[in-house]
Formats: sequence, C-alpha cells, structure tokens
Amino acid sequence: MTRADLEKLPADVAAMFDGVAKRYDLTNDVLSLGQDRRWRTAVVDAVAPRPGERVLDLAAGTGTSSEPFAVAGALVVPCDFSQGMLQVGKEARPRLDFVAGDATRLPFADASFDAVTISFGLRNIVDAEAGLREMLRVTKPGGRLVVCEFSSPTWAPFRTVYLEYLMKGLPAVARAVSSNPEAYVYLAESIRAWPDQPGLAARIEAAGWSGCRWRNLSGGIVALHHATA
Ligand SMILES: C[S@@+](CC[C@H](N)C(=O)[O-])C[C@H]1O[C@@H](n2cnc3c(N)ncnc32)[C@H](O)[C@@H]1O
Repeated sequence: MTRADLEKLPADVAAMFDGVAKRYDLTNDVLSLGQDRRWRTAVVDAVAPRPGERVLDLAAGTGTSSEPFAVAGALVVPCDFSQGMLQVGKEARPRLDFVAGDATRLPFADASFDAVTISFGLRNIVDAEAGLREMLRVTKPGGRLVVCEFSSPTWAPFRTVYLEYLMKGLPAVARAVSSNPEAYVYLAESIRAWPDQPGLAARIEAAGWSGCRWRNLSGGIVALHHATA
C-alpha cells in the first residue's frame, strides 16, 4: 500500500463505499469485536439531543450512526454521498429520512441544525477542512459538533499491538467477511495516517470551531471530539 492509495478522488471514495454497502454493518461488528455499539451510544450521549432539536448525522452511510439518535427521540437527518450506502440504509431503516449530499457542499441552509455529528466519516472526506467549515455553516451559533473517529491508543505498548492488528489482522479478517477487502486495507492505512487527539482538535479549531476537547473510548482506539459553533 502506497501513499498514492490514500489520495483518492471523491468519486473513488463514493464508489468504494457503494462496494461495501451490503455487508457494511456485519463487517463493522466483526472487525470492532462489537465495540462499535458502545461507541455509538457514547456519541448520542455526547450530543445529548434535547426534544425538538435537529441533528445532522453527516457521512451517515447506511444510517448505523443515525439510528440511535432516532431511538433517543431526536430529529436526525442522515446525509451521505454514496448512493449504494443510501440505498441499503433506506431498505434497512425506512423510518429515517436519508438525504443525498456531499459533505463539502451540503444541501442545507446556514444555521439549520442544533448539532452536527459525524462518525467514522471525517477521515474519508477528501477535503476534511472544507467538510468541517461546511458543518460550521449549517450549525446554529452556539450549536454543537461531535466527531467520532479512530484515533491513537494512549498506552504505548497497547498502541504497538493495535497497529499490528490494524495493518495485518484487520485486512485478513476483512478478506473473510467483507464484499470488498481492499476497502479495509484502505481503512487500516487511513487510520494510521490520521492525526492523533491533539492534532485533530487543532484541525477542528482551525476550521473555525471553538473550545475543542475530546474523550477517549476503548483506550483511545476511538476519540470523541466536541466543539461549539
Ligand atoms: C465508514 S462510513 C461511516 C458510516 C456511518 N457514519 C457509521 O458510523 O457507520 C463513511 C461514510 O462517509 C461517506 N463519505 C465520505 N466522503 C463523503 C463526502 N464528501 N460527503 C458525504 N459522505 C461522504 C461515505 O460514503 C461513507 O458512507
């Protein structure tokens, strides 16, 4: 895998997710050893939607990250640009109102959401800075951002074991369960290249968000970054 493999065009990213859509939820559960369910509950707790608030779940894919918001009674709007993911999502979760849209050119008015959240999606947006600025544009002043993303385990010995799993174990498991194992090689490589907790906080604030702080989950495999518009 070379750096060039990470330099995808937006259309390549959409096509890659079209290719994994059918088995996306199953593969997630297997590769994260079921941890992803806990991470999703933590995202809803962090956003803490109040009755009547509108929450944008960006890069929502099949709606896996949006469903817990609907269950919590929030008015959640799942948005994604992969037609394949949206189609599987609409069939599996017909009560969610999916919207097709590119994170760097969102089809929403300024200040139209109380909170914006993105789970395992920011890393995939080819121009993540442009995505963060668009999220700020559609959020009401004082509104919240919660980014759930793979991060850097904080305990050095565990970080070494984890990186080993990421680069060798994960692609091997993906070959057994995924419809497109190559996408999971990209996943491993993109996680390794992604900024650590302070690095991501700096990028979020550079895009115009205020007071960014984070909470580690599963020892820092995942981090939740919170900021205010
Ligand atoms: C790993 S999936 C995450 C799906 C879901 N949020 C979850 O937690 O399971 C990443 C999603 O980001 C979407 N994505 C990547 N770039 C995007 C963009 N520029 N605009 C909208 N969606 C994008 C992909 O289509 C894909 O569905």
